[in-house]
Amino acid sequence: MLAPASVSDYRELARRRLPQLLFDYVDGGAFEEATLGANRIDLQRLTLKQKVLRDVSTLDTSTTLFSQALSLPLILAPVGFAGLLARRAEAQAAVSSEKANVPFTLSTVGICSIEEVRQATAAPFWFQLYMMRDRGVVREILARAAAANCGALVFTVDLPVLGTRYRDVRNGVGVRLPNLAKLEFAWNFAIRPKWLYDVVAKGRPLTFGTLSGAVEGARSLGDLLKWTSATLDSGVTWKDIEWLRNEWQGPLILKGLLDVDDARDAVKAGVDGIVVSNHGGRQLDATISTVSILPKIAGAVGDKTTVLMDGGIRSGQDLTRALALGAKACMIGRAWAYGVAARGEAGVTAVIETIRRELQTTMALIGRTCVADIDASVLHD
Ligand SMILES: Cc1cc2nc3c(=O)[nH]c(=O)nc-3n(C[C@H](O)[C@H](O)[C@H](O)COP(=O)(O)O)c2cc1C
Repeated sequence: MLAPASVSDYRELARRRLPQLLFDYVDGGAFEEATLGANRIDLQRLTLKQKVLRDVSTLDTSTTLFSQALSLPLILAPVGFAGLLARRAEAQAAVSSEKANVPFTLSTVGICSIEEVRQATAAPFWFQLYMMRDRGVVREILARAAAANCGALVFTVDLPVLGTRYRDVRNGVGVRLPNLAKLEFAWNFAIRPKWLYDVVAKGRPLTFGTLSGAVEGARSLGDLLKWTSATLDSGVTWKDIEWLRNEWQGPLILKGLLDVDDARDAVKAGVDGIVVSNHGGRQLDATISTVSILPKIAGAVGDKTTVLMDGGIRSGQDLTRALALGAKACMIGRAWAYGVAARGEAGVTAVIETIRRELQTTMALIGRTCVADIDASVLHD
């Protein structure tokens, strides 16, 4: 490949650069990966109407989310442990986002802390929260996010337990391995010198950023994943949303809704936005793709709250399809993770700019000059 042209090219570059275990951690999904596949297939099934002879000499891709003016209806989704993919990856991605004027969302389980990302950028990045059993720890994290002027709190609700990901198990993540297998495990890392230099030599400390005070002695992805499942509170209910609403003064977004009644309950609970999401097919497998349920959810609550969507967005065409079905903007997870793994900050910038160009080209070819004009009428029945 002389020059990467698309997000899938960045995926290929990431595959070549990362140890197999880390590539699979990003690329894979839960169980048989049916939902992971459905997110993509169902997007690709939607065909756009070509429209001609409209004046498309000026195109405006900008939008406003939670009073924040953005250059694109795009948000970088929270990606846990991203700092294992490239040196200080969360800070690098936040810098790319700031330059592109789209929000970056920092995961609770980022390698970089809230304060490190704050130091790297001036723009108001978003913070994603997983509820931990110890509400004191949660309160303290919220105070740090507020002090860092985070633009929104994204509360992820689709991970009461961690989905089973066969690829991770096969790669020995969190598994006690016999000695020979341990050698093979180490070999997978040894044959990736560029990654070793970037992340292991130059990307330290490889700790749990924001939570590093709370996690002692975690030395591997397996340890961190184990700690995560042991610490997360699987007893969270709508009552906790009330609690959170009182604790957090800024925009509050629930991420991980796939059901119309849940979306209505979210509106009742007073949240500012929802993300229609199945965690990129990493949690419940054999559930519905996000783009399939999006029109129903947007139809039910789209006039009462800000509806965002993620899952399978790999191009400006995909973004157009989701906007057409009622999303105000979309999050991308793997797309930026591939970019940062392949080429750090420049890779994330390239991914965002690729999606921007694709959106512009698509808008010109469907005859729409601003994103607000992209509605269901741009799709074939
Ligand atoms: C490697 C990886 C790690 C993720 N970690 C988190 C996380 O820490 N918190 C969270 O809310 N979602 C997490 N997600 C889900 C993403 O935020 C997002 O919902 C999903 O990636 C969207 O699908 P896409 O990857 O097809 O764009 C993760 C996704 C991936 C691929």
